[in-house]
Amino acid sequence: MSERISIAVVGSGYVGLVATACFAEIGHRVICVDNDEAKLRTLESGGVPIHEDYLPELLNRHRGHSVEFTSDLGAATREAQAVFIAVGTPQSRTGSADLSYVDAVASEIARSIDEYKVIVEKSTVPVYTNEWIRRVVERNGVSRELFDVASNPEFLREGTAVVDFLHADRIVVGADTDRASDLMKSIYAPLTSGEYYRSSNAVPGPRGEGNAPPLLQTSTKAAEIIKHASNAFLATKISFINVVANICEAAGADVEEVARGMGMDSRIGPKFLKAGVGYGGSCFPKDVAAFRHVAEQLGVDFGLLKEVEKINDEQRRRFFQKVRSALWTFRGKRIGVLGLAFKGGTDDIRESPALDVVRQMLHEGSIVTAYDPAASDRAKELIPPGPQMRYVNDAYAAAQDADALVILNEWQEFAELDLKRLHYTLRYPIIIDGRNLYEPMKMLEHGFTYLSVGRPGLTHTRDAVTPRVR
Ligand code: UGA
Repeated sequence: MSERISIAVVGSGYVGLVATACFAEIGHRVICVDNDEAKLRTLESGGVPIHEDYLPELLNRHRGHSVEFTSDLGAATREAQAVFIAVGTPQSRTGSADLSYVDAVASEIARSIDEYKVIVEKSTVPVYTNEWIRRVVERNGVSRELFDVASNPEFLREGTAVVDFLHADRIVVGADTDRASDLMKSIYAPLTSGEYYRSSNAVPGPRGEGNAPPLLQTSTKAAEIIKHASNAFLATKISFINVVANICEAAGADVEEVARGMGMDSRIGPKFLKAGVGYGGSCFPKDVAAFRHVAEQLGVDFGLLKEVEKINDEQRRRFFQKVRSALWTFRGKRIGVLGLAFKGGTDDIRESPALDVVRQMLHEGSIVTAYDPAASDRAKELIPPGPQMRYVNDAYAAAQDADALVILNEWQEFAELDLKRLHYTLRYPIIIDGRNLYEPMKMLEHGFTYLSVGRPGLTHTRDAVTPRVR
């Protein structure tokens, strides 16, 4: 049996909440700390503020026994053997990560350290942050023997965060003392030993008893860099395939075939080669900028990342032009929109390419009817409903009498629409798909004018110029 460890998790955002639920799930006692009292009340009374598979189940399973919520960081620190910092590291005006929350939390933790603790960076932070935390804690009068700072970056994706946590590709632990790394190894032992997967109600996923996730131990600095470099590399892969998509479009080839051919090379791999409207979310845009900034501070020119960002911005613009090319003008056009979140499977709209495209369409005078299975409420806070912007509850309502349907993220249900019904519902059977969810030939056969990314656009000539007659 693995040891039960007392853990404090500071921050109840995506990373903090998922870590809280998953640490409890693997047998530890977790106190989750946040200073947002309203959010704490929601969490205590069984609410879950984010859309994430398995998270409500796990929190229900452990709330009250292994999971507690509090705003008292001092008390949580005193009870914990390890304190995970999972607060936000937003982008500052210069592009660097704003570490003021990390700084404030580190000082407060320091004031409550009375016996040995490991302070763990879980938030994405620039290399050297561990040294800053160490200095802040020491400055608050805590002796070096009473604490260590470790880095344990998170590689979870929104929407599949719980499975990514419990069935990780790898667990990275950056620690510079044996004492810290031993505690971190004990925390993850239920996963690395395979013990967790024997439990009958374990969350299912790719890992199992004989196929447990490896734990990679590194220096604290290397762990910090692994996180930034991994996100920057994935973003680079996406921008790369998006440029290849543009080449395919110009040359009359299909980027899906090209990506398949590239991905079959095990050195390249098939993942993150999906062309589309560009990446968004709370991580890639911020982390690419922050990593570029770190490089600059260290005297290293990482111009490649500037190019990655430029391509990503350009991809949204290109897509918008594609919608324009299908509609000619936007003013007064009724556009159905599928997808508002930055990707499918989440309600997160931060840095969403979809919202950007919607805003531009509204700016040019279109009337938008939008549907997203989870993100509409959040989108309404940024783009309030009104005569020009309507939110509806299913895909066909978004398509109803629209001059065109625009697909902006990749929820599974958007890829499984009844095409006959869709054709009948739209005013003009025009679909502009920013996520390549359909086969162009199939769409043509169903009578659609179908434009996607990096594939030849197919125009069903008669219907493209004549509105459907019921
Ligand atoms: C990303 C990383 O994948 C996680 O490993 C990391 O832990 C997380 O950031 C983080 O740092 O917290 P996430 O932002 O949830 O996770 O979303 P992804 O699934 O990586 O997608 C990011 C963006 O890239 C989305 O807009 C998505 O639509 C886009 N994307 C992804 C593509 O355009 N093409 C692809 O092939 C893959």
